[in-house]
Amino acid sequence: MTIHVAILGSTGYTGAELIRLIEQHPDFMITHLGAHSQAGKKVRDVLPGIAGAVGDLTLAKADAPLADDIQLVFTALPHGAAAESVKKALDVGKKVVDLSADFRHQSPDIYQQAYGLAHPHPHILNNAVYGLSEWARADIANTNLIANPGCYPTSTLMPLIPLLQAKLLDDSAIIVDAKSGTSGAGRTAKTGLLYCEVNEGLSAYGLPRHRHAWEMEEWAGNFGQHPIKVRFVPHLIPMSRGMLTTLHLTGKNTATWHQTLLQAYQHEPFVRILPEGSLPSTKGVVGSNRCDIGLCRLSDTEAVVVSCIDNLLKGASGQAIQNANIMLGLDETSGLSIHAQWP
Ligand SMILES: NC(=O)c1ccc[n+]([C@@H]2O[C@H](COP(=O)([O-])OP(=O)(O)OC[C@H]3O[C@@H](n4cnc5c(N)ncnc54)[C@H](OP(=O)(O)O)[C@@H]3O)[C@@H](O)[C@H]2O)c1
Repeated sequence: MTIHVAILGSTGYTGAELIRLIEQHPDFMITHLGAHSQAGKKVRDVLPGIAGAVGDLTLAKADAPLADDIQLVFTALPHGAAAESVKKALDVGKKVVDLSADFRHQSPDIYQQAYGLAHPHPHILNNAVYGLSEWARADIANTNLIANPGCYPTSTLMPLIPLLQAKLLDDSAIIVDAKSGTSGAGRTAKTGLLYCEVNEGLSAYGLPRHRHAWEMEEWAGNFGQHPIKVRFVPHLIPMSRGMLTTLHLTGKNTATWHQTLLQAYQHEPFVRILPEGSLPSTKGVVGSNRCDIGLCRLSDTEAVVVSCIDNLLKGASGQAIQNANIMLGLDETSGLSIHAQWP
């Protein structure tokens, strides 16, 4: 049976990526596309890459009612704005995948510290499942609300969790040095994202504490069963999409770490552990829902792990569809590619 789908925030980068992926999904059909400043326009007039019948749809206002036959709603809205739309969709019985940060924290206090906002619906936080797909399948299959992880936390948590679970890391702060393409900042115009500001340059931002640091610590602690601290420095690089995260790790028995990663992910379609000493590149993942991980030992107690994702796929819309597939009991890989664009 075809599942009718709404995307709220469909005119942003993650929303547009959801449209592109869902158009190829065998079980999903888009029947509602919501927008904010662009509401009332045709999709194809706002998103030049979207053609066909879906391009002829008219963008609905953000608060337009959702038809009864819509089962699944993706909210790809700015944090703060998403919470209200999520609550409305849940109240009328929809299943929701929220790409924003509004339901990623279990405590409203942590949300307030990270985002500087009082959470408008704290009573829903406990119903949300943090959707790091490979680590939360059973809970994802039993919820109506998925908090889709952030892009930097996804690329950080994927290599970190198996090593924490195996108790191989020591308690020193983990250095997370990450680089993102500019689509990570969304489509809204900002001076720092202008071509002349970004092109042929490289800049760090978000210090002393980027909001994703709280998310990394909370979910590394929960999934890894061990509390951690991160020293997280994000960087903006002049490419449209892609994310490369370098973890500087210390602990014990580094000779076993590669095998630990291999075992954790041996049956996972969207995770590839490279041979020891090989390091991944964003070119190997962009356009796919894959996370590529490489490990290089420095000594018996030190190693560097590099993880690459496409921020708009495994870091956002791809993982959102992977989660929706799990939540609805479908093949987890439906509508998703394991192959990158090449060249
Ligand atoms: N970009 C990434 O790599 C990435 C990765 C992971 C998670 N996320 C998260 O996913 C969400 C969407 O990100 P994005 O990059 O797609 O953002 P974006 O490109 O800035 O798009 C934002 C979307 O939300 C709509 N919108 C803006 N303000 C709104 C408001 N006050 N009320 C209702 N709708 C509003 C916009 O509609 P109009 O165009 O009509 O104004 C647009 O459709 C964010 O919460 C972001 O943090 C993004």
